[in-house]
Amino acid sequence: MTSLKVFSRLTHDARIFVAGHRGLVGNAIVRRLKAYGFDNLVLRTHAELDLLDQSAVRTFFKEEDIDYVFLCAAKVGGILHNSLHQADFIYENVMISANVIQAAATYDVQKLLYLGSSCIYPKHATQPIVEEALLSGALEPTNEGYAIAKIAGLKMCEKFHQQYGKCFVSVMPTNMYGPNDNFHPDHSHVIPGMMRRFHEARENRASQVVVWGTGAPRREFLYADDFAEAALTVMECYDKPETLNVGTGEDVTIRELAYTMAKVVGYKGEIVFDASKPDGTPRKVLDVTKMKSLGWEPRISLEIGLKLAYEWALKAGAFDIVAAEGGVNAPSAPPLRP
Ligand SMILES: NC(=O)c1ccc[n+]([C@@H]2O[C@H](COP(=O)([O-])OP(=O)(O)OC[C@H]3O[C@@H](n4cnc5c(N)ncnc54)[C@H](OP(=O)(O)O)[C@@H]3O)[C@@H](O)[C@H]2O)c1
Repeated sequence: MTSLKVFSRLTHDARIFVAGHRGLVGNAIVRRLKAYGFDNLVLRTHAELDLLDQSAVRTFFKEEDIDYVFLCAAKVGGILHNSLHQADFIYENVMISANVIQAAATYDVQKLLYLGSSCIYPKHATQPIVEEALLSGALEPTNEGYAIAKIAGLKMCEKFHQQYGKCFVSVMPTNMYGPNDNFHPDHSHVIPGMMRRFHEARENRASQVVVWGTGAPRREFLYADDFAEAALTVMECYDKPETLNVGTGEDVTIRELAYTMAKVVGYKGEIVFDASKPDGTPRKVLDVTKMKSLGWEPRISLEIGLKLAYEWALKAGAFDIVAAEGGVNAPSAPPLRP
């Protein structure tokens, strides 16, 4: 990617905290920041700073004199893992948001970017989903805990903005994928999960890969580095309390995704769509008009993005991880990464 962006707000001596920098999104933001020459990054692993610990978070902000925060730390998981651990998802995500946002306000952080998610919009939102759809209908029950926590974080930013004049802003990313994604066999998202199955089928010379559902549902996917570019754009030039959708604005069918995946991975066998399994929502795509009006555009096509993610996964040994004992029902089951 080229380095054409001009920064005036985000200065090179600013102290920038990327929370969750070893995750899919945090890692992409760190890569983009470094590519633009921002070296004054303050990074802490989960083990070094547990964001559930309010006292530790307050001490960190007091001592580190942070100017900007990208809040990418969260408890994140695929549909099944999310639905089986709703208490953990609501508790951890509420606590992370509350601790970080409140400490950032107390210790005078200049700007904070919070990440919502397209999956916290109402289950039956009109497509393409506009920002105003938030809280306009019932949520998808299987991830209600996660969604309520994320909405609380989003609303905290909005209220701190309105009551205290804090420049805490938020975005609503669509499904993302890329290097550093979670390839865990039990609780990954659609793309890393499907990539693993095609990879294993190729390795094992399997004649068939079965994909759940008819293949007809339409979904939107954004390469994480494209999102990172959007996050930097928002940090530089968007100060309003209203959230912004971030996606490609274009959707593909699961069938198209499966065939593109097979091509990227080099799987030559048959792809079978098991129509006896549920399809889920027919279509999910964001209206990204507002985000694009800031001059941002996604650049990485699905096929190129999948190639880059696959290259990373092979190099990092992401497919070597095996399911934990107890699988998705294991009480802790944190995402495992190479
Ligand atoms: N991935 C998507 O498709 C997607 C779509 C829309 C929105 N988002 C949002 O984007 C954000 C980042 O998602 P992601 O996909 O990058 O997730 P991720 O890959 O799972 O990364 C999350 C990061 O947060 C860290 N973390 C979790 N709990 C923590 C704690 N208590 N203290 C400190 N660090 C903690 C994790 O560290 P450990 O791994 O060491 O626990 C990990 O580095 C989330 O807010 C998510 O809701 C993601």
